[in-house]
Amino acid sequence: MKALLLSGGSGTRLRPITHTSAKQLVPVANKPVLFYGLEAIAQAGISEVGIVVGDTAEEIRAAVGDGSAFGLDITYIPQSAPLGLAHAVLIAREFLGEDDFVMYLGDNFVVGGITSLVDAFRAERPDARILLTRVADPSAFGVAQLDDSGRVVGLEEKPRQPRSDLALVGVYLFTPAVHEAVRAIKPSGRGELEITDALQWMIDAGRDVRSTTISGYWKDTGNVTDMLEVNRSVLESLEGRIDGTVDGRSELIGRVRVGAGAQVTGSRIVGPVVIGANTVIADSYVGPFTSIAEDCRIEDSEIEYSIVLRDSSVRGVGRVEASLIGRNVEVTPAPRKPAAHRLVLGDHSKVQISS
Ligand code: G1P
Repeated sequence: MKALLLSGGSGTRLRPITHTSAKQLVPVANKPVLFYGLEAIAQAGISEVGIVVGDTAEEIRAAVGDGSAFGLDITYIPQSAPLGLAHAVLIAREFLGEDDFVMYLGDNFVVGGITSLVDAFRAERPDARILLTRVADPSAFGVAQLDDSGRVVGLEEKPRQPRSDLALVGVYLFTPAVHEAVRAIKPSGRGELEITDALQWMIDAGRDVRSTTISGYWKDTGNVTDMLEVNRSVLESLEGRIDGTVDGRSELIGRVRVGAGAQVTGSRIVGPVVIGANTVIADSYVGPFTSIAEDCRIEDSEIEYSIVLRDSSVRGVGRVEASLIGRNVEVTPAPRKPAAHRLVLGDHSKVQISS
């Protein structure tokens, strides 16, 4: 069995965070979301992985390399334009050969991995198995309809009027039967070869398409609340570890991970919290479910239930909560006069001011 990991696309939904970076590299608990996918694939006992890459190919290659760090053997498959998930299967034909495979969308996060699903697929080998999850906003996804016995009878891509709240999760298991389907379908209204249409084609052709409904799923629908929630759920199982330095005036409570070269001085940190390499936390409070990336500086501030990406600083700010702070961001108090908010915000930014 092989894996096809999709890492193209532009990530418009997570702007401004993905203006300058691949959406698959957005960190969850200081680790790119793509790495959780790679780890899940390795844990499921799969070693041959094809990564389909687009405009952000260089960034993805720089982060993942040859895959040896994950115990994987990686083949990069360039996709000239984001022409759809079924198009990715089409261009990966040579890599996939006659093997069964799991297709994994690199911006999806499945809590608990995919090992049991892959094992069940190996044992049963239906033509395809899809993963479903109940969501509040089905029209942002592919949506499935099941009959009374739980069989998949219909699939629609981002329907305006969804017929169920069962969204397609970005993990699909296929036998080589899918290849005929991806060759047969035509581009959708958005100009893409949809895997949803290929699955519908398989159903119409009498193929055996089964589904598993899971809970514990996240993808980048651009919803910061969801992103903070997935960060929280990963930090729930974080193990504490101090690789940096913590001075005698600081107090660490619960599970806190302090990265190599990081310094904590005069601060109180209540875990679970992860602090990236070379970050400085000085005279501050860092509260539960906070991920602060590498090379940041939190000084004379309070921050809780938030995500801070690398090279950013928060200084002299009373309290920051439920926030997502991008790369190279500075948050400071305004000068005393005039008493006004002073903002320099990029495109698609969102600010909530508490006065
Ligand atoms: C794709 C699929 C959609 C699925 C989603 C899951 O959407 O087309 O059916 O629900 O992934 O991540 P996209 O992210 O390409 O809009």
